[in-house]
Amino acid sequence: MMNQPSTNQYIEQNKDRFINELLDLLRIPSVSTDKKFKGDVLKAADYIRQKLEEVGVDYAEICETGGHPIVYAEKIVDPKLPTVLVYGHYDVQPADPYELWKSPPFEPEIRDGKIYARGACDDKGQVYMHIKALETMQAQKTLPCNIKFMIEGEEEIGSDHLEGFVKENKEKLVADVVLISDTDIIDNENPSITVGLRGMSYMELEVTGPNRDLHSGMYGGAVDNPINVLCKIIASLKDEKGRITIPGFYDKLVDLSGAERKEINQAPHDDEQYKKTLGLEALFGEEGYTTPERIGIRPTLDVNGIWGGYTGEGAKTVLPSKAYAKISMRLVPNQNHKEIDALFTKHIQNIAPDTVKVKVTSHHGGQPAVVPTDSVAIQAASQAFEEAWGKKPYLTREGGSIPIVSLFQQQLGLNAVLMGFGLDEDAIHSPNESYGIFNYLKGIETITLFHKHFAALYQKG
Ligand code: BES
Ligand code: MN
Ligand code: MN
Repeated sequence: MMNQPSTNQYIEQNKDRFINELLDLLRIPSVSTDKKFKGDVLKAADYIRQKLEEVGVDYAEICETGGHPIVYAEKIVDPKLPTVLVYGHYDVQPADPYELWKSPPFEPEIRDGKIYARGACDDKGQVYMHIKALETMQAQKTLPCNIKFMIEGEEEIGSDHLEGFVKENKEKLVADVVLISDTDIIDNENPSITVGLRGMSYMELEVTGPNRDLHSGMYGGAVDNPINVLCKIIASLKDEKGRITIPGFYDKLVDLSGAERKEINQAPHDDEQYKKTLGLEALFGEEGYTTPERIGIRPTLDVNGIWGGYTGEGAKTVLPSKAYAKISMRLVPNQNHKEIDALFTKHIQNIAPDTVKVKVTSHHGGQPAVVPTDSVAIQAASQAFEEAWGKKPYLTREGGSIPIVSLFQQQLGLNAVLMGFGLDEDAIHSPNESYGIFNYLKGIETITLFHKHFAALYQKG
């Protein structure tokens, strides 16, 4: 009888090809926010579809949505077996500023065991692990359950067309769990499973003063300056204790028990190290909470960009007509992003002086999510990590947002397992984004083990 290589042997024997296929995907600049890249977004979708077909799904298709398409595929082994729905995204953030990249963002380069490219970790590298995990299980004939894939192209711009797709395709998406690799672990010595994500409300302010730009000497002192006003408004949105001053902002927050807070603080975290890696002398956050709590269980408000007036070379004396800012709020249970949009808008209109007009618009948003920690799926993920990493994973709450998690809970009654393998140092959304080859290959192994344990536990349960 021929010797079947073990899962780890199969991954080891095929790792160069596994890596090269990912590099090809990373060469496609699928930036969802920029129309210029529309063709590349489609190319990336088609690459994913083709690679899914190659690993033997029953079928893979490109689903039009009115925005960037969703790639859907399924492999039904036996309708009686449990079904895992894999979600991820093939779109990426813009790579700007290009000049800060050591190697070009869409010409992936391997340095010191890491793949450097936009999307390496968020989320192409992590999506591709699932395709290679399926290949591995197919090659070994160990696929223990049904798998569906739903890989979207609009995650980085708020998943606008996803809700419609999910609502219209409830039958197709029937599953027992959603599996997502689009988050981080603590570090390679301390694996973790994410069990909470913050939601988000994203707003834009436009402050208008005089009907044209003015000479700052002829008018300055007699006419209010929209940039000064905008800065005052922004500065007032958080107090010295790091609390947000918008009335009603905290009303819906669920208090965490002492035990829950204790658990969050048990995961390894070192503020000194954290400061050092960020080049900071001191941290700032809401009084009374630790750094992991400030990120995982408390809401926050940040200016993402601010502009207006003259920002070119040299000096131009101008009292600008307009000033702008983009502001995001990260939300926690049970804040609702639509309610927060409304509270924010009302508050800004209340505090705006009558020397200017302020227009408030809302961009995309998403609900926060926590997943129950006592499920069979979390147990399976925990066993998979323990087997592959030799250590029981911590359960953490992360600060980022994946709006689909709450959407799946509401629309399909499905909980997600957030089994991501990224590291803080992977610098997602930043220049020089990377993904460790160790994490990529270990991730493939861990995913195959998740399927094994999930199918086994599910049948028992
Ligand atoms: N993968 C991230 C979310 C993430 C990163 C969660 C790290 C936990 C840890 C995702 O692609 C992302 O960037 N989401 C956006 C939200 C979206 C609505 C634009 C975010 O968090 O800013
Ligand atoms: Mn992502
Ligand atoms: Mn992202």
